[in-house]
Amino acid sequence: MPVRCAIVGASGYTGVELVRLLDAHPAATLTHVSAESAAGKPLSASWSGLLGVDDRLVEPFDVGAIRAAADVVFLGLPHTVSARYAPALLDAGLTVIDLGADFRFRDAATYERAYGIVHPAPELCAEAVYGLVEKNRALLPGARLIAAPGCYPTATALAALPLVEAGLVDWLIADCVSGVSGAGRKPGPRNLYCEVQESVSAYSIAGAHRHRPEIEATLGVPVTFTPHLVPMVRGMVATVHVRPTRPVSLAELRAAYRERYAPHPLITVRDDAPPATADVRGTARAVVHVALDEALGVITAVCVIDNLGKGASGQAVQAMNVALGLPETAGLPRIPLLP
Ligand SMILES: NC(=O)c1ccc[n+]([C@@H]2O[C@H](COP(=O)([O-])OP(=O)(O)OC[C@H]3O[C@@H](n4cnc5c(N)ncnc54)[C@H](OP(=O)(O)O)[C@@H]3O)[C@@H](O)[C@H]2O)c1
Repeated sequence: MPVRCAIVGASGYTGVELVRLLDAHPAATLTHVSAESAAGKPLSASWSGLLGVDDRLVEPFDVGAIRAAADVVFLGLPHTVSARYAPALLDAGLTVIDLGADFRFRDAATYERAYGIVHPAPELCAEAVYGLVEKNRALLPGARLIAAPGCYPTATALAALPLVEAGLVDWLIADCVSGVSGAGRKPGPRNLYCEVQESVSAYSIAGAHRHRPEIEATLGVPVTFTPHLVPMVRGMVATVHVRPTRPVSLAELRAAYRERYAPHPLITVRDDAPPATADVRGTARAVVHVALDEALGVITAVCVIDNLGKGASGQAVQAMNVALGLPETAGLPRIPLLP
C-alpha cells in the first residue's frame, strides 16, 4: 500500500512542489490537499498548470478529514500556523513534516528570540527531528514530527559540514543568494516583479536574518551570514569562507568532502569548478565544491540547491522516505531541467 499523504498549504510554492513530487513518488500517494483562501476551489484554480491533471478540491484545514485520508501530513505554512496545527495532527496519530521554522530549534526560547513571537507549542520543540538527512539520518526512522530545514541553512550547512566536523572552523562567513520563490507566493516587496527584476540586493545583514541562529544551531559555530535576493525564480548558492584553525592542503579538503558525502545519494561533490543553480533546478540534489586560496590560507566552499527542492519540498520528501524506511531518493528527480 502506498503511503497516504496530505499537504496543508497546497496553494503555496512549497505545497505545489510537493504536489509535483508526490505525483511521481513510487511508494506514496497524495490523498488530501488543504489551504486557506484557496479552499473550496479546485487545486487547478490555484495552479492553472495543473488543469486537467489535478483538479481535486482544496479543502479547508480539518484534522478529522486529514486523518481519514492520510498517514503523513506536510505543512507548507507560514510560521506559527504550523505550530498551532501540529499538536492536534500528532494527537490524531499522523506523522507531521513541517516545512516552516516552528520546530527547527530544540528549545522554544531560541525560536522566540529569532522570530520575535511566543511559540504556540513549545512542548514539541524537543521532540522534533531536524530533517537534514545528511546530519541526522539516524534520528529520522520512526520520527513523528520532522522539521524540514530552512533553505539557506541547508545550503550553508552542506557547504560547511565537512570543515566543521574536521575541527577546522571557529567562525565562518556565508554569503548566499536566493531566487525569488524563496519569499513565498504572498505578494510583498521581495517578490514583486518590478522591484526584483534586474536588481540584486543584500538584505537582513549583520545578524538580522532569522536563519542565522538556525545555521549556528546546525553547525555549532558563529556565522556571519549575508543573504542576497537575485532575479531568478528558483535556486540558491551558499558561498562559505573559512580561515582554518590549522593549515590544510587542497588535496586534504577534497578528500574530506568526498568521504563525508560518499554515503549520501543526493549530494554531488564537484572538484573542477563551482557549480551553478541550473545544475540542480527542479531536483532535490545539492552540488558542493571546495577550494583553497593558498596565498591567504582561506578555504572557500560552495553549495548550490534548488530552494524548493533540497531547500524545502524535496528535502521534506527525502526525510519522509528515511523516516518511513523507503528508499531515500524515491520520488525525487535527479536530473535538472536542462538547459
Ligand atoms: N519558498 C521557499 O523556498 C521555502 C523554502 C524553505 C522553507 N520554506 C517555508 O515553507 C513554508 C511555506 O512557504 P511557501 O513559500 O510555500 O509559502 P506560500 O507560497 O506563501 O504558501 C503558504 C501556504 O499556506 C497557506 N496558509 C496560510 N495560512 C493558512 C492557514 N491559517 N490555514 C491553512 N493554510 C494556510 C496558504 O493558503 P492560501 O494561499 O489558500 O491562503 C498557502 O497555501 C514557510 O514557513 C516558509 O518559510 C519556504
